[in-house]
Amino acid sequence: MRIILDTANLDDIRYFNTYFPIEGVTTNPTILSHEGGDVLKLLSEIRAIIGEEKEMHVQVTETEYDKIVEEAKAIVKFLGNKKNTFVKIPATDVGLRATMALSKEGYGITVTAVLSAAQAMLASNAGAAYVAPYVSRLENICADGVGTVADIVEIFATSGTKTQILAASFKTAKEVLDVAVAGCHTATVSADVLRKLLSHTTTDTSIAGFAADWKKAFGDTTLLALLNK
Ligand code: E4P
Repeated sequence: MRIILDTANLDDIRYFNTYFPIEGVTTNPTILSHEGGDVLKLLSEIRAIIGEEKEMHVQVTETEYDKIVEEAKAIVKFLGNKKNTFVKIPATDVGLRATMALSKEGYGITVTAVLSAAQAMLASNAGAAYVAPYVSRLENICADGVGTVADIVEIFATSGTKTQILAASFKTAKEVLDVAVAGCHTATVSADVLRKLLSHTTTDTSIAGFAADWKKAFGDTTLLALLNK
């Protein structure tokens, strides 16, 4: 399952873009509000860090059809890459209408705030490139977030749609793994959850053990130093 980073924090984006195999960055109005300041400068800095080839998903703030369409086009023009800039549009009737119009013109639309498989099906029929089901927001209200993603996987496999699933809104690493097992294509994950996906105390103790055993037998030299002799 492909992983995208769900943040607008530049330090986190620089770090994860260097050390982790991330495919891009997603933002939403709340995520951008956490950073504050000049939003346009922030968005261009994110694009500059991840480069032209990786995906950026930016959400519209307008709510009227004409304005959503205008804003979507302006976002893509500003970030300058129609292929790898996706416009996030919430799963409403107006959002579906905008998705139909924009996807016909070749814009990549991520229908977001998807809280049911039914919404995902409609978004796919409207031509969305991605649907973003909110896993934790469902789990938090005792609904089945992971099960909803599994249902969407099945519906999309049956219909043969090109729409991809971008699972979102994770609070635990386990939820991320669970949607991967369910066959989800892509997940967008916060810096905190992404750190938890990699870290393991037994990995740390294993590495410490290797280093101690090596040092006991061979002292301060390294394998590279021996090879370079
Ligand atoms: C994707 O970008 C979504 O907007 C995001 O994952 C929502 O996450 P939250 O439910 O933690 O706000």
